[in-house]
Amino acid sequence: MFNIFKKKPKESAKLFYHTDVHSHILPGVDHGSQNVGESLEMLRAELDMGITHVMCTSHVTAETFENTPETLTAAYDELKQAVEAEGLPINIYASAEYRIDEYWTREYEAGHLLPMPGKRILLENSFVQELIGIDNMLFELQVKGYRPILAHPERYRYYYDHKERYKSLHSASVKFQVNLLSLTGYFGRGARETALWLIQNNLCDMFGSDMHGMDHAREIQDYIGSREWRKLCDKYDLPKRIVNDREFEL
Ligand SMILES: [Fe+2]
Repeated sequence: MFNIFKKKPKESAKLFYHTDVHSHILPGVDHGSQNVGESLEMLRAELDMGITHVMCTSHVTAETFENTPETLTAAYDELKQAVEAEGLPINIYASAEYRIDEYWTREYEAGHLLPMPGKRILLENSFVQELIGIDNMLFELQVKGYRPILAHPERYRYYYDHKERYKSLHSASVKFQVNLLSLTGYFGRGARETALWLIQNNLCDMFGSDMHGMDHAREIQDYIGSREWRKLCDKYDLPKRIVNDREFEL
């Protein structure tokens, strides 16, 4: 029988930007999405939040995920076909989240990279300690025409008592991408407080979902429907300051 008491599913709150610059949506290449079905579900969640352009930034890390432009492009082609078959109104782009380690150094020196549009490249620091020579590497990278984006600066604990490093990296033209999941408290108090500090100090250029699965998508959907998120957007004029869309001119 027709159930008049059945609740309509709640519509997700929308983000003020349309480009997700950090996601693990490509199927089967890291510990994000494991198959095309899961990837499509994640892309539907992105659409629900107002995202229409998704940078697929799968992990590239020594020993664990030694992806190459070829492995990433193969996963991308498979997903792209499925997106077209489903008729999803979303654009996806093949790229990577490069951990700065010995594998990165080899790939970078061999010119074997898969940047985002406009030669933007998403870099992840080590979680243990800052790499010696990182400033030179970032400078050199820019001389070669790449435009580095540092993934989730708020997650590197060794910067918490050295906030001046954030300022020096940022003033060296490295863009900062804060994770929405850090704001939710998903990565603990230190990451949340530092994410807020970066926003307050005008050091947050972009947001990313860093979505590895539907659990992350749901957590973000809840957060962007919260009063706290709306207040942050208003207080710091985020729709004007955040360059997720402007950075790529898609
Ligand atoms: Fe990531």
